Amino acid sequence: MADMTGSRRQSLTEKAQAKIAKVLSYGDYAVDATVGNGNDTFFLADHVGPEGAVVGFDIQELALHRATAVLGEAQLLQRVKLVQKSHHRMAEFVPDDWHGKIKAIMFNLGYLPRGDKSVITQADTTILALEASIKILAVGGRMTVVAYTGHDGGQEETNAIREWLRPLTISHYDVEMIPAEVQTSGSPELYVITRTD
Ligand SMILES: C[S@@+](CC[C@H](N)C(=O)[O-])C[C@H]1O[C@@H](n2cnc3c(N)ncnc32)[C@H](O)[C@@H]1O
Repeated sequence: MADMTGSRRQSLTEKAQAKIAKVLSYGDYAVDATVGNGNDTFFLADHVGPEGAVVGFDIQELALHRATAVLGEAQLLQRVKLVQKSHHRMAEFVPDDWHGKIKAIMFNLGYLPRGDKSVITQADTTILALEASIKILAVGGRMTVVAYTGHDGGQEETNAIREWLRPLTISHYDVEMIPAEVQTSGSPELYVITRTD
């Protein structure tokens, strides 16, 4: 959407990608914790280049099917491994030698657009997945979490994320919250978590 200066507003998912682009380079490792239609997986695979690699998680076959089509068309599948498992189990499926070297992990919570709206990320597994993520993130690495409050369970999940983030700000991590530009009830929030040491 264009604002009064005529420039288009960036969505929170675009802002998340812009934040990740600042830390992600050719040859890096990255994780997409919620593959969905594959937009973030595509972005990550494109940014790590042919020497880098991406692992993506989603519990739905339809999501991985759509993402495979998008990545295949762009000849990016060689650098991506898609896993039909819950993201809270990521440490089991991300190669051991990546642990502590992953530069980017992206979460875009909620339900699959153009899919079954009753299949949503859940507060308890999301928190476990965030815990797993900070354990494998590189120093200087960054995670983004786009959280939605407008669907059933979304507010509880967002509250749980806020609680989980609270102690993180004390040391080792820099945490930024970016609200949606247009605030309505149920508008999403973006959290950017950067490991500083
Ligand atoms: C908003 S969509 C992700 C959109 C995606 N990032 C994109 O660029 O198209 C959220 C996705 O999370 C998935 N999901 C739900 N619970 C999950 C879990 N426990 N582990 C991994 N993915 C999950 C859903 O199936 C859905 O596809």
